[in-house]
Amino acid sequence: MITFDLILGQVKECLALHKSALGDISEAVINRDLNGRVRLIVPEEAQDNPFIQTLATTLAERLAPHAYPLERMVLFEEDMGVVFSGVSSFPLDGFPNVRVVDRLATEGNWTTIGPLSPGAPRIVFFSIKGGVGRSTALAASAWSLAEAGKKVLVLDLDLESPGLSSALLPQGRRRGFGIVDWLVEDLVDNGDAVLDDMVASSTLSREGDIYVVAAHGRDPWEYIAKLGRVWMPKVKPDGTREPWSRRLVRLLEALEQRLQPDVVLLDSRAGIDEVASSCVLELGATQVLLFAIDSDQTWAGYRILFEHWRNAGVAQAIRERLQLVGAMVPDDEGRKAYLEGMVEQACDVFTESFYDEIPSGESTAGYFSFDRTDEAAPHYPVPIRWNRGFAALRSLHSRLEVVDEKEVRFVFGPLLDGLEVTFTQQGVRDNG
Ligand SMILES: Nc1ncnc2c1ncn2[C@@H]1O[C@H](COP(=O)(O)OP(=O)(O)OP(=O)(O)O)[C@@H](O)[C@H]1O
Ligand SMILES: [Mg+2]
Repeated sequence: MITFDLILGQVKECLALHKSALGDISEAVINRDLNGRVRLIVPEEAQDNPFIQTLATTLAERLAPHAYPLERMVLFEEDMGVVFSGVSSFPLDGFPNVRVVDRLATEGNWTTIGPLSPGAPRIVFFSIKGGVGRSTALAASAWSLAEAGKKVLVLDLDLESPGLSSALLPQGRRRGFGIVDWLVEDLVDNGDAVLDDMVASSTLSREGDIYVVAAHGRDPWEYIAKLGRVWMPKVKPDGTREPWSRRLVRLLEALEQRLQPDVVLLDSRAGIDEVASSCVLELGATQVLLFAIDSDQTWAGYRILFEHWRNAGVAQAIRERLQLVGAMVPDDEGRKAYLEGMVEQACDVFTESFYDEIPSGESTAGYFSFDRTDEAAPHYPVPIRWNRGFAALRSLHSRLEVVDEKEVRFVFGPLLDGLEVTFTQQGVRDNG
């Protein structure tokens, strides 16, 4: 009797046993439905291939109870494109013409990666666990970049637990609508009705601008009823589905078009869920800041996520955009030991999933590989200090109103320096 975790291993064994079945087929799909049952989808032309039925029999026997009954095990599909529409899919390791399609209850996609945005850098603030100071760091970054004269666009994508906007805006400056409103209105082609009243301007910076797009408007109204519809794909007149994450990219592009920001900061939801997934992979982020505290739960969470990326074949595409951030690093005599412990753990986790193995005797040149103590490595934490002034704040906004550059630099300095580097790199890329 097999369990879900054993499905793909069994599928590979079956395919290896019946190589001739898929040998001359352009493309085959292993489809895992919402209940975790597998069926094989092949192009219509394969109907004459006698080996397909033998393969189907083996699959049905080996995968039960995670298999369709034999008579429905194979689906011959006229248009294979339809199979991939609006769902997550990834290549089956070792079988170049086979992809795995996962039908999930949510449409979050941890297996495809959006192209890099050609415009202003988009920087995602992500963490595997909540409450580590991610939104505070984002607010401080926005403030600091604006003080340096930049036009900063900030989106609160932590839709299920919004909070960033109140950190950057006093109550009176909130606008009528938020991201959730746009995503709901867009389903009925009414996004433009709310777009004009979504962008608030923060009073915190005297030099540059901070534009804030909140999760909801000044009155959230029926927020829960709206939130339940946010994840809906949009079905176009021709029947194709636009996943919600693609709709979010459209919103982001519309906002960038209007505001022409120098940089976009995105507050992602914490954890392994669909909003976080699209923030990290699908929004074309230039850089993904992975906030971490040194705890077993944090590393276990990142391991799950990174392994999934590796299995789905996106690790190579995302790895150059990742940077670990050490959140709330103790600011006492324990600091050095804490950071060293963190480097150890982080290096192991990153090496397992992202770093190339260097053949013995070769130099590291040309490989994506870093020494444990290389401060420029993606695993080497950019430290943020634990600071009493930022702890347990009732209102971050009032705190930022009185904060000075020196204090922000003391707590967040290395993070802010890193953001500057991102700017410089983007500039170099843009100018060829
Ligand atoms: N550098 C810091 N030092 C000490 N306390 C901090 C620091 N940064 C944030 N805090 C405090 O930690 C708590 C959580 O901060 P914040 O809301 O920014 O975290 P978060 O990771 O965005 O949380 P969530 O996952 O709930 O959105 C707040 O009480 C905040 O005031
Ligand atoms: Mg937050």
